[in-house]
Amino acid sequence: MSELLNPADPVFARDPYPYYARLRERNPVARVELANGTHAWLVTGYEEARRVLADPRFSNVPARQAGRPKPPSAAERARQCLARHMLNTDAPDHGRLRRLATAAFTPARVDALRPRVERLAAELAGDVSRRLARDGVADLVDAFAFPLPVLVIGEVLGVPEADRADLRAWTYRVGSPADALEPGAADAAWSSLHAYFGTLIARKRRAPGDDLFSSLVTAPDEGGLDDEELLAMAFLLLFAGYETTMNLLASAALALLTHPGELTAARRDGAGRWAAVVEETLRHASPLEGTTWRRTTQAVALDGGTAIPAGASVLVVLAAANRDPAHFPAPDDFRPDRYLAAERPAPHTAFGHGPHFCLGARLARLEATIALPRLFAALPGLTLAAPPDTLAHRPGLLVRGPLRLPVRQGDAAPSAPLAHASAHPGG
Ligand code: HEM
Repeated sequence: MSELLNPADPVFARDPYPYYARLRERNPVARVELANGTHAWLVTGYEEARRVLADPRFSNVPARQAGRPKPPSAAERARQCLARHMLNTDAPDHGRLRRLATAAFTPARVDALRPRVERLAAELAGDVSRRLARDGVADLVDAFAFPLPVLVIGEVLGVPEADRADLRAWTYRVGSPADALEPGAADAAWSSLHAYFGTLIARKRRAPGDDLFSSLVTAPDEGGLDDEELLAMAFLLLFAGYETTMNLLASAALALLTHPGELTAARRDGAGRWAAVVEETLRHASPLEGTTWRRTTQAVALDGGTAIPAGASVLVVLAAANRDPAHFPAPDDFRPDRYLAAERPAPHTAFGHGPHFCLGARLARLEATIALPRLFAALPGLTLAAPPDTLAHRPGLLVRGPLRLPVRQGDAAPSAPLAHASAHPGG
């Protein structure tokens, strides 16, 4: 028998954890029936999640679409191009793409982004402050958590300053629900991004910059990336990097605003405790709720005895694995302290596990540990402007975070100097 699951249900989206806990208790690898009538296997146990993610019998290559393909529109071509990225490949293709990307994403190059991330975070905190002064309330997702990662990816890709507002606006449109925009706007944004990345690659070939992406573009021809692979890589870096980091920033801000004692402690103790806040948010509100879908290439019998048939769709629910009580005591409590104790908890799986472990983990941590203290230093009296249990969360099984985070300023005055504003994403 399989459990029913409707990922679009707003109650499930706000708090899916009781459902996952029930499922894990019944079976940490369970067959569920989704609202559209299809079946899938959900992995909610910590051990089982790590085992599946390290097992090559669970493939990342998406199943071929059935039926005759329609002639693709420009927007469809852009989407198809995105689908050719390394997260959708298995060994040996994956190894080649991953090696080239890892050579560009060295720790030293990521760390060199620090001053630019600091400047962007300060500018955006200034933006939030001005919105608060003007309107009395501001949405931290729209004004801070969304634009920061997009602008940082702009740095990674070496997008010139003059083009950053376009990058931000297109990303905003392709990431918005279709009914939130005028008809055709999302398709137009997909096409614009596709054309822009093509031009960017040609430009980097002629005149490489000191950005990470230039080193991928100019890697030696032998075994290097072709133009289609470079386009897919640009899309992957943008989409893997912005929505996840946006949710990390928004969920961390929400956790701190609803746990004022933790905010006071982070302000008091500084860097080590901010890092613990970030780790605990990754565990407690894992920004990627589930990994990308896996498909079994053969029947698999996991250690516990559960048999998954060949060709089955499998989703590793990172958000559930990270609340497995067998590895994280009091898993539903937000307790950054657990990352400060002498005896550390098991490593969380928020960045995945195995061959597809997140390539941007160091960058995401760098961004969050810079941005959060900056934000709360610039806006010391920040409070939530809506009861936390009324905040809607992103629907679906893939990403997790609040859709909006309305805040207002309390009595305290800003303590940090505020830099100039940046463009609104929609503008
Ligand atoms: C809080 C922020 C982030 C989280 C929680 C996160 C999480 C993850 C996870 C769970 C995976 C593995 C997915 C799977 O196995 O299906 C992954 C892969 C990946 N991530 Fe991240 N990510 C974050 C930020 C970033 C950033 C900032 C970048 C780059 C700019 C990035 C680039 C990638 C890439 C390229 C992959 C694919 C790796 C591969 O297939 O070998 N991520 N990420």
